[in-house]
Amino acid sequence: MTRRLPERALQALYATGWDIFVGPEEIPNRSRLLWGVGGAVGLLTLLTERIDGEVMDRCPELRCISNCAAGLDNVDLDEAARRGITVCNTPGVLTETCADFTWALILGVTRRLLEGDRMMRAGEYPGWGPLMLLGLDLHGATLGVLGMGQIGRAVARRASAFGMRVLPWVRGASLEEVLAGSDVVTVHLPLTAETRHLLNAERLARMKPGAYLVNTSRGPVLDEEALAACLASGQLAGAALDVFEREPLVHPDLVASDRVLLTPHIASATQATRERMAMLAVQNLIENL
Ligand code: DGY
Repeated sequence: MTRRLPERALQALYATGWDIFVGPEEIPNRSRLLWGVGGAVGLLTLLTERIDGEVMDRCPELRCISNCAAGLDNVDLDEAARRGITVCNTPGVLTETCADFTWALILGVTRRLLEGDRMMRAGEYPGWGPLMLLGLDLHGATLGVLGMGQIGRAVARRASAFGMRVLPWVRGASLEEVLAGSDVVTVHLPLTAETRHLLNAERLARMKPGAYLVNTSRGPVLDEEALAACLASGQLAGAALDVFEREPLVHPDLVASDRVLLTPHIASATQATRERMAMLAVQNLIENL
């Protein structure tokens, strides 16, 4: 186990009677990771660790990599397949939690909650103003959903409760039409060679002027530099980001922008869901060893 997981999952793993090595609570550095995995037949990993051929070389008997995340972009799947190593993830158990959080971001950025909070704390609230912190009406607006997997569908389902029209982007449909027709675009795509920088300068420029962008999938789907430029020029009204191109780093222009709501990759972070993910990752490991 490359990093410490919730107690229940640890106990379930210890109950197997296997010889278990548990990594630290914080993200292990590369040399510690390479040392720690030595000789393992199974690995329970997190999205913060790059599990590539070099890691796999350290454990020639490796039979299963159980990644405690829905995303698998941190694991070199081709390399694992070449070596006959089973790779598992934890989809499903986090769907509703991530969809709830996506709505927290949509509401937060379109109604300028953080700007209001900062104003209050700074003692800068001048009193009610007819032009102060004006945002976007969600009712009657259009939500573009990029990726209609489990999370994308769960986000889209909630849209009707807010009186929003949904424009889904699925394979074969026109991405440009979804971008041009949406007041808020929310991203729910896995990170693959095809989706890396899918939202580049050219595509961001196709978004409706004054629209908002929300990303809770993977940072590199979006070109942060290009997004910062669109926000600076006023082409986009705001963005809410839970994931970043070079986590844990954030592009300095995004940090500096008032119109960006930033959260530290916590879409699935509820007590119950993180425990469900860890338990599923343990169960996957047990079933595949
Ligand atoms: C995942 O599972 O892939 C999320 O990014 C973290 O919950």
